[in-house]
Amino acid sequence: MDIFGKCMNFNKAHEVIEMGIYPYFQPLSANDGPRVEMNGQETIMLGSNNYLGLTHDPRVIKAALNATKKYGTSCSGSRFMNGTLDLHLELEDKLAKFMKKEAALIFSTGFLANLGAISALAGKDDYIIIDKADHASIYAGIQAAFGAIVKRYKHNDMEDLEKIMKSLDPEKGKLIISDGVFSMEGDIVNLPELIKIAQKYNARVYIDEAHGLGVLGEHGRGVGEYWGLEDKVDLVMGTFSKSLASMGGFVAGSRKVIDYIKHSARALIFTAAPFPAATAAALKALEIIEQEPERIKKLNEISRFMHHSLKDIGFDIGKSNHTPIIPLYIYDDIKTMYFWKQLFNAGLFTNAVLPPGVPPKQSLIRTSYMATHTKEDLNQAIEILEKIGKKNGVI
Ligand SMILES: Cc1ncc(COP(=O)(O)O)c(C=O)c1O
Repeated sequence: MDIFGKCMNFNKAHEVIEMGIYPYFQPLSANDGPRVEMNGQETIMLGSNNYLGLTHDPRVIKAALNATKKYGTSCSGSRFMNGTLDLHLELEDKLAKFMKKEAALIFSTGFLANLGAISALAGKDDYIIIDKADHASIYAGIQAAFGAIVKRYKHNDMEDLEKIMKSLDPEKGKLIISDGVFSMEGDIVNLPELIKIAQKYNARVYIDEAHGLGVLGEHGRGVGEYWGLEDKVDLVMGTFSKSLASMGGFVAGSRKVIDYIKHSARALIFTAAPFPAATAAALKALEIIEQEPERIKKLNEISRFMHHSLKDIGFDIGKSNHTPIIPLYIYDDIKTMYFWKQLFNAGLFTNAVLPPGVPPKQSLIRTSYMATHTKEDLNQAIEILEKIGKKNGVI
């Protein structure tokens, strides 16, 4: 049997390409933040995680350019060996203070932060308990946590979580992991209940703040701040690829735990360090978030406006609440791609999300918003969505 056999028989993507509705790997030829150029036409971007619009802030761009001039384009090695810069340590220090934790550790991507931290912490005979809708990088982490016993509870269902916790051996180590803001559904973890259950069953809590950082809470510290429960979360994970306008990721927690991960995580030790420009851009973006909290307020106003507008027009937006991720449920895979294509042709870029990104028959158009979207961008987007929604019988 040829291991490449499955590749030779893989036609799924090509069938959709031939139907003219393939929504993935679409190239951008210019990017201004809220507006981009795609397929030769100006397009409103409703598919980005650039929540605070900082990728085009002149101060962030300047910081990235200066770091490239000073340190070069690459660290050319692992953090563990030759690849640690003073900039990395400065960013770790700043992140720890911002997240109100003793220490932080940065990785080259958010994906690697989850993969590295989870697989370093959990091993033989430990329990990892995750929300079924957790991000793929958390799944990668549990797969690499050799010997750990994995349990999955129904999405944000605290009764199901408690049922599972009750059934576990009380003597074994337990780590409950949840996304803070769920990346496709746009809803928020029920942290108060999750923490109550964790305390009752002596489990540690790990929250992925990828979509909460810079978005939720008065200062943008995420769902922990949103619920007023930051000190009850043992370990927070975040990424630079969303509000922090860069690339990279981190975990923050107690000094002892961070030190252990630092000396155990294969995804940190055996990969190249975050490059200078990325590190400097994240550092500057974090500084701006601290100095200009009005950006978070603006993003929240925009999110609220879009929730109301899309609901009023008649879209099914599921359980999305208070976040800039607003799904439009279409349910059927092919209809979702047709819908996506019509939006794209009309000058609106969104994300078509199909299984395994969501459960079967839960396909959706993921829309997301930035603090830098103008009223004109948003009104134009609503007009297109309403017109195409009606035409397709979605609303
Ligand atoms: C919830 C969540 N966690 C982790 C990641 C991985 O982060 P990155 O893209 O920075 O590697 C993402 C990004 O897609 C995410 O949505």
